Amino acid sequence: MILFKKSGELHNFLAEKSKEGVKTGFVPTMGALHSGHLSLIEESKKDAFTICSIFVNPTQFNDPKDFEKYPITIEKDIYLLEKAGCDVLFLPSVNEMYPAPKKKIQYELGYLENILEGKYRPGHFQGVCEVVHRLLDIVSPDNLYLGQKDYQQCMVLKKLVELIGVKTNIIICPTTREPDGLAMSSRNMRLNEAERKQAVRIYQSLCLIKDGLKPGDLKGLKQKAMDHLSEGFKIDYIEIADAATLAAIDNWDGKAHLVALCAAFLNEVRLIDNIILSKN
Ligand code: PAJ
Repeated sequence: MILFKKSGELHNFLAEKSKEGVKTGFVPTMGALHSGHLSLIEESKKDAFTICSIFVNPTQFNDPKDFEKYPITIEKDIYLLEKAGCDVLFLPSVNEMYPAPKKKIQYELGYLENILEGKYRPGHFQGVCEVVHRLLDIVSPDNLYLGQKDYQQCMVLKKLVELIGVKTNIIICPTTREPDGLAMSSRNMRLNEAERKQAVRIYQSLCLIKDGLKPGDLKGLKQKAMDHLSEGFKIDYIEIADAATLAAIDNWDGKAHLVALCAAFLNEVRLIDNIILSKN
């Protein structure tokens, strides 16, 4: 695996690859890698020269405490990426990603920015777009691999790719889970033993929705899922939404393709998860 810290050097290296006709796959991350991240690397490796980036992006953290406490395990990350056969690691500094103060672009994300994660983490998706825009300018990949775990982020980044007019294909990979069902997340490292045991309730509450889903009024079902989290969690939202638009659905026609999404705090740690409820 080749390690780059300078964006110019990586850009020139990849421009050469592109001239040689090499197909490239890009997996942006914030590090503290787990099997979820590695599943994206594996997917990219199947048919592309694979570039992973690790950068804990300060502009997407609406809560400074969350940024300060974000786990950093860089040596282990490098080991895991080597083992997974990743071809290139881009490891920029904050100065490398954000040199002289640039005029901030306001990305027109529409309603996506005001609902669910957008509502509870103001500015978060603008920060995600800012960093991914810069990374896409540097890497210009054929394919961009994202995890379904961050469902709304996938929708936002599809919109970004449209807004900036690049040809990158977005490939969404399924959520990797712990054996008890908890979605893998770098933030799980911050849970103590008791919290870790309790954390599985998020997935269970989404499964309650999936198992109880019937056409008609969904309020009772949502309440049942909330009740399952009532002890120990501070819930930001549990929502049942149209899988294509994320518009909240209170009454299901039995046809629309749905997703259930949840965000909740276990003490200091905010966890998110989602499951697809029905396919067309
Ligand atoms: P991070 O949380 O490190 O996630 C990097 C990628 O891994 C994202 O596409 C995310 O959806 C995916 N991922 C995380 N957990 C997963 C799991 N359990 N199963 C499958 N995929 C999973 O998301 C970010 O970083 C940042 O916002 C980023 C896009 C890098 C911009 O800074």
